[in-house]
Amino acid sequence: MRKPIIAGNWKMHKTRDEALQFVYSVNMKVPSKEYVESVVCAQSPVLRDLVKRQGDNLRIGAQNMHYLDSGAYTGEISAPLLEDVGVSYVIIGHSERRAYYNETDAAINKKLHQAFRYGITPILCVGESLETREAGETDAFVKKQVVADLKGLGSEQVKELVIAYEPIWAIGTGKTATAEMANDTIKAIRNVVRDLYDEETADTMRIQYGGSVKPANVDELLSMSDIDGALVGGASLDPDSFLVLVNAAVKK
Ligand code: PGA
Repeated sequence: MRKPIIAGNWKMHKTRDEALQFVYSVNMKVPSKEYVESVVCAQSPVLRDLVKRQGDNLRIGAQNMHYLDSGAYTGEISAPLLEDVGVSYVIIGHSERRAYYNETDAAINKKLHQAFRYGITPILCVGESLETREAGETDAFVKKQVVADLKGLGSEQVKELVIAYEPIWAIGTGKTATAEMANDTIKAIRNVVRDLYDEETADTMRIQYGGSVKPANVDELLSMSDIDGALVGGASLDPDSFLVLVNAAVKK
């Protein structure tokens, strides 16, 4: 049995006050971590404040990280610092970073190794463009990403890793992949991991769906065999909406 994980990706939203207000209002209401992992990934300057105030059942994540410990990389964030502030998760390779900041699979691979070195659980994002989907090349495309991104990781690490399958055309567009479509691609990703590692690793690793997940569609998505949770942008900003999503995962 894989424990579902719901992660809010706040992107470049919320001031410090707004972020703290969110944590205060959901802290006592998120379901037990025995049933679901509930995470919010915030902008870096507020991470320490949120970690200090996270309740037992809520965890805080970052949205990006460099693959080196330190150096002359203006504007970057290091894993040692994230570990130091007590962050539990880090989103790696989000499609917005791949598109706007030219993140390559090679850099993403190094970031995954770095996250494990510092005990931070990576949420690795993969997913295809509309063009790729329409050309019928989705499975081949995500396979290529997964193979390149996981290079050199051991099976114990891959078991801990979370993958978020996020079709680019479904992010922030209101268009969701149908639950079957999402489940099929997630199964294909699990098969890639099965081929690269083994049955146990593939069955243990959690794969989320992401892209316009909201209270109205979360139940259907989570009812699918291979969807182990969701990475949620827009619908994670409002505390009530976030609570609906994490509670939906309890029923899984
Ligand atoms: P969305 O974003 O839920 O707003 O579509 C998802 C994501 O980018 O992780």
